[in-house]
Amino acid sequence: MTGRLIAFEGADGTGKSTQARLLADRLGAVLTREPGGTPLGEILRSIVLDPVGVAPVDRAEALIIAAARAQHVAEVLRPALEAGRDVVTDRYIASSVAYQGYGRGLGADEVAAVSAFATDGLAADLVVVIEVDEATTAERLGGDLDRIEQAGVDFRSRVIAGYRAMADAEPDRWVVVDGNGTVDEVADRVAAAVAERLPAP
Ligand code: TMP
Repeated sequence: MTGRLIAFEGADGTGKSTQARLLADRLGAVLTREPGGTPLGEILRSIVLDPVGVAPVDRAEALIIAAARAQHVAEVLRPALEAGRDVVTDRYIASSVAYQGYGRGLGADEVAAVSAFATDGLAADLVVVIEVDEATTAERLGGDLDRIEQAGVDFRSRVIAGYRAMADAEPDRWVVVDGNGTVDEVADRVAAAVAERLPAP
C-alpha cells in the first residue's frame, strides 16, 4: 500500500506552512517542505532564497529548485510513500509552475517538464491551495522577505493567476481553500476539503 501525497500551495503570506503542519498532525503524516526537506535541499534553499548573496538567473533558479526537488523525491517522498506513510509537503511542483513558469515568465509547460524530469513523474494526489485577501497577506508576511518574495507586486499577481489557472484546469486534483479567518477556522476547512477529496484508503 502506498501513502498519499498532499501538496500545500499558495502565494507567500497565506499561512500555508501553518496549515500544512496542522494537517500533517491530524493525519499522522510526514511533514516536509520545498525547496528543502533534505540536507542537500536545505543548502540549495539557502542559495536560492538568500536576499543578499549571489543571485541566480531565472533559468538557474528553476534548475536549482528542481535539483532540490529531485533529491527530495528520492530521499524523502518516495521512501515514505512506499512505506505506506501519507506525506504533506509545504510546496511542490505547482510552486515552480506558478513562480518560475508564470512569475518569472519561463513558461508553465517548460517548467512543468523540468519538474517531471526531477521527480521522475511523481505527482501529488491532492493539491491544496490557500487563498487570502491582500490585507491579510501583508499582515502575515511582515518585513522579512526572501529573494523570490522580493520580486514585487506584478510578479506576485502572476503567481496568483498561475495558481488559479492550474486549479481551474484540474478541479479533481486541486482544492482551493479560503485562508481568511483564524488558524483553527482555516484548519477545519482544510480538513473537510481533504476528507472529501481524499477519503481514507
Ligand atoms: P516558503 O516561504 O513557502 O517556504 O517558500 C520559499 C520561497 O521559494 C517562496 O518565495 C516561493 C519560492 N519557491 C519557488 O519560487 N519555486 C518553487 O518551486 C518552490 C518550491 C518555492
